[in-house]
Amino acid sequence: MEFTATAAIPAKATSACLILGIYEGQKLTPSAIWINEVSGGLLNRVLKGGDLKGKVGDTLMLHQPEGIGCQRLLLVGCGQEQELNDRAFRRISEAAAKAVVASNARDTLCTLGELPLAGRELDWKVRQVIEAFGQASYRFDQLMSKKPEEPPRLAKVNFPHTGRAEGALVKLGILQGRALIEGMTLSKDLANLPGNICTPSYLAEQARSLAKAYKGIKTTVLDEKQMERLGMGALLSVSRGSRQPAKLIVLEYNGTSARNKQRPVVLVGKGLTFDAGGISLKPGPGMDEMKYDMCGGASVLGTLKAIAGMELPINVVGVIPSSENLPDGDANKPGDIVTSMSGQTIEILNTDAEGRLILCDALTYVKKFNPEVVIDIATLTGACVIALGAHAAGLLSNNDALAAKLLEAGQKSGDRAWQLPLWEEYDEQLKSPFADMANIGGKEAGTITAASFLARYTKEYTWAHLDIAGTAWKSGKEKGATGRPVPLLTQYLIDKAKGD
Ligand code: BES
Ligand code: MN
Ligand code: ZN
Repeated sequence: MEFTATAAIPAKATSACLILGIYEGQKLTPSAIWINEVSGGLLNRVLKGGDLKGKVGDTLMLHQPEGIGCQRLLLVGCGQEQELNDRAFRRISEAAAKAVVASNARDTLCTLGELPLAGRELDWKVRQVIEAFGQASYRFDQLMSKKPEEPPRLAKVNFPHTGRAEGALVKLGILQGRALIEGMTLSKDLANLPGNICTPSYLAEQARSLAKAYKGIKTTVLDEKQMERLGMGALLSVSRGSRQPAKLIVLEYNGTSARNKQRPVVLVGKGLTFDAGGISLKPGPGMDEMKYDMCGGASVLGTLKAIAGMELPINVVGVIPSSENLPDGDANKPGDIVTSMSGQTIEILNTDAEGRLILCDALTYVKKFNPEVVIDIATLTGACVIALGAHAAGLLSNNDALAAKLLEAGQKSGDRAWQLPLWEEYDEQLKSPFADMANIGGKEAGTITAASFLARYTKEYTWAHLDIAGTAWKSGKEKGATGRPVPLLTQYLIDKAKGD
């Protein structure tokens, strides 16, 4: 799908579908006022008919409206003008995108950027609208021999602006919005692919393709022999139970000039391509969803693709420890003790707490990049789904300034996180009578004890952890990956590149 900026005024434009906002109480937005005038009061008459109340997200498609150059008018409810906020704007954008994608229109002109929103510039609004179109037009039917529906006909979304200053904002919004949905689409595709296709080697191939496509990205893949030499005993203990070889995937994005040795932001993503639990086997129902246990890794690939597409002037390293977790004669057993790359020993009391085992070695490995900040992203605990549901990622950090920036990026992108504490009392739950620590901390506060485990490997740098078990995919009828937290991470990096 193509996104473009135009200086044409909506009242004179020709388009297959013009999107207009309508407030509650039959109140028109500025472009709607124009269209109403040139069409001889068409909108007033339609609204009097009562088919569109103007509530947030209501839509009404008018065909062949007279007196204007567009073949369709999509009226979108915007609620009360004074109540317009970020969330309303997103719902309005989503409803509009859904309706246009479902129509037969080949292109559309979207005036939603003119809605007044306190504290949000035009580029932000354009980005949100593009994200909504990315979401509405996303399909994952590549493994079906018969497609359940035709691909959307919509090929182009056009954004009007009134001059130079607005034009620059629209173009920025388009550049960033387009790159963002490309990153999210990659992340969703990889996550939706099943474990028999999306293996650690497959993820490594994807990372190599990114390096081919973007000159700012360099990819290196470590195999099991190399990891053994580094002493990654925790990570390798997980992959011993699988016939697929583990990979440690490293992507380096250099967005600053070669001479600038700015310390990088390091993103570490859990890349468990299938988590059966190992010897501590998971129950059967719903186990298919554990193909999504690589969503942390997918979000690292998606975020790197997004920022490379934006050519952000920043240095970022992505690291993805990738393995399967399966029961096997050679798999970890409860009670086994392994030695991590850091030298700390771990008693594995539950083989299903494998994410922290592969992450801890990756978190030790990344010290070599002299990181300014390290953020790990993982579908780490079922407890996080219970605590926060699908609405927010769990955020834990050893640095409150970093946590605040991530929370802010979450608000701004609509991809929110919520902070939980990392107090010593929780860390004490990890005590083991036989090793430096156990890999589980009991029933209580599972998200926090998992993060406390990771915190033992991140003492030497500024670090945050995002538990995305609840946000990375949807279960139920509309099962599928969400692309989160690519928007949050990308927003954080956009702000960081600006020096915020
Ligand atoms: N990948 C799972 C976490 C998970 C569970 C994500 C459900 C999304 C939905 C992780 O490897 C795991 O199994 N965690 C265990 C930890 C427990 C054994 C301490 C869990 O949450 O049950
Ligand atoms: Mn597990
Ligand atoms: Zn897992």
